[in-house]
Amino acid sequence: MTILKKFLGFGLGLRTNHYNDVIEQKPDVDWFEIISENYMVAGGKPRYYLDQIRENYPIVMHGVSMSIGSTDPLNIEYLTKLKTLIADVQPEWFSDHLCFTSVGGVNSHDLLPLPYTEESLTHVVERIKQVQDFMGRQMLMENVSSYLTYKTDEMNEWQFYREVCEQADCRMLLDINNIYVSARNHDFDAMEYLRSLNPERVQQFHLAGHSDFGDYVVDTHDHDVPDPVWQLYKEALKLFGPVSTMIERDANIPSFADLTAELNIARNIAEQHIPNIRSQIEA
Ligand SMILES: [Fe+2]
Repeated sequence: MTILKKFLGFGLGLRTNHYNDVIEQKPDVDWFEIISENYMVAGGKPRYYLDQIRENYPIVMHGVSMSIGSTDPLNIEYLTKLKTLIADVQPEWFSDHLCFTSVGGVNSHDLLPLPYTEESLTHVVERIKQVQDFMGRQMLMENVSSYLTYKTDEMNEWQFYREVCEQADCRMLLDINNIYVSARNHDFDAMEYLRSLNPERVQQFHLAGHSDFGDYVVDTHDHDVPDPVWQLYKEALKLFGPVSTMIERDANIPSFADLTAELNIARNIAEQHIPNIRSQIEA
């Protein structure tokens, strides 16, 4: 089931405000990431636009509702819809978050961190394997930002994340901003986090902005990518080489021109650290 580590280049999260810009301008963006849940109803406007965009760009799918770490049963209805969407869109890959969102059947609509224990590890690994078997393909797991830890933790976040991906044989969607946010909130070393990961597992990067309140940082996705996140991105490039990179923006969304200008910052940084990186794009 292992998939090759494919480098797609530099992409953006596709947002409804920008459908027309993308279709009319055919901008120099290498790929787009869609939020899977927004396209699960066949027909309708989102699918109308996506079908047109799909003709010109590689797509990856990113979900927010799998609740892979929950003790609730896996939602087969949701997974069936996701499988149908994968068959329709033919994405390069699909991803969700290493977290839980539901408890006792109640959806929190939040990406809640898991306890980093052996029991939790065994549980989530088994569920990722079940999802990958159901889909017939590997998936990517994203590290979430967090604002609390559990007294029962037996390992740190990066040990847990690494072990999950090794044991489940899934790949990593590494959110550089989330590492920065959690490192600030929990006072750990973001570089130690990055250095501990297996480069072979890292398939995609997310870059985003946050809100800095001094004593704590909130993962709001409503600002430009700030300098400390760019700095961490540079270090990630040195460690992991060419990895498909994209910018996530979910609130206070700028014009498409401003977003592509920000993507060009990522391209320039990557080019400085990996000369001719764009010639390595495999899409
Ligand atoms: Fe992310």
